[in-house]
Amino acid sequence: MIRLAIRLAAADAEIVLAELIELAPSGVEENELPDGRVEYAVYGAAGELPALPDLQAAAGGALVEIVTTEVADDWDQQWKAFHKPVAIEHRGRLLRVRPPWEEAAAASGEVDLVIDPGQAFGTGAHATTRLCLEILLELEPDGGCVDLGCGSGVLAIAAAKLGWEPVLGLDHELESVAATVDNARANSVTVAAERFDLRQGGAVPAATLVMANLLLPLLLDLSGSAFDPHPPQLMIASGLLIEQVDQVAEAFSLSHGLREQDRRISGEWAALLLASES
Ligand SMILES: C[S@@+](CC[C@H](N)C(=O)[O-])C[C@H]1O[C@@H](n2cnc3c(N)ncnc32)[C@H](O)[C@@H]1O
Repeated sequence: MIRLAIRLAAADAEIVLAELIELAPSGVEENELPDGRVEYAVYGAAGELPALPDLQAAAGGALVEIVTTEVADDWDQQWKAFHKPVAIEHRGRLLRVRPPWEEAAAASGEVDLVIDPGQAFGTGAHATTRLCLEILLELEPDGGCVDLGCGSGVLAIAAAKLGWEPVLGLDHELESVAATVDNARANSVTVAAERFDLRQGGAVPAATLVMANLLLPLLLDLSGSAFDPHPPQLMIASGLLIEQVDQVAEAFSLSHGLREQDRRISGEWAALLLASES
């Protein structure tokens, strides 16, 4: 097992992270170094890690150094220490996303989600996922839900647990489709998952709620005609840096009449709740 770390000037860190999460879907460890720089590290076997040229391209001029280290025999313990349960509390409702080796919490009324962090993006730890979960906790379930870029299935599974039905997760990565199916089974909920490339421009299946934790370019693509002729009643859009939010809100408002209802911020990241006027 190898630990591959890239070190960056703190000022550029969040922007680079947006690129890195595409290269390392199963999670990026973040550390603040004593000298103020930021280190992002990924773990994997040789051959499974992002390629150095891709990392260099993602980090651009912000890159200070790349450091690879062999991880000791207890790497699985380090991996487990890295993936801790994530609790999202909103207006008295509590949702907890935990890896399979952590016990379910005893608290009654808590929504318990088990997500294996090994396969695809979405342990619940990333700010963009947490913001989506926070908004989701506030919504009254009212029909079907489609999760665009489902990764581990964390958002789709949370939606199913909260009462949305039917729930469909779409992702262009086969690993994400498999992870969503496996994780849905582990959570005893019904979530369909299909391979679907959002860049191909086909219409997205209609649903009351669309969740899209993607990056800016893909969200802007979707604002074109992806929801024609049936835009959703509600849309949660995330994966956005704060300075990108206005552009996305305006694009969906113009194209699909989806108006901003709520905007959530965490660090440099933001999420939007959009709602149809009709
Ligand atoms: C930021 S992750 C979000 C994962 C999960 N929904 C969450 O919120 O934690 C973005 C996901 O979008 C998927 N994705 C990226 N480009 C895509 C495309 N063109 N078509 C479909 N899925 C895509 C990635 O594979 C990844 O699983």
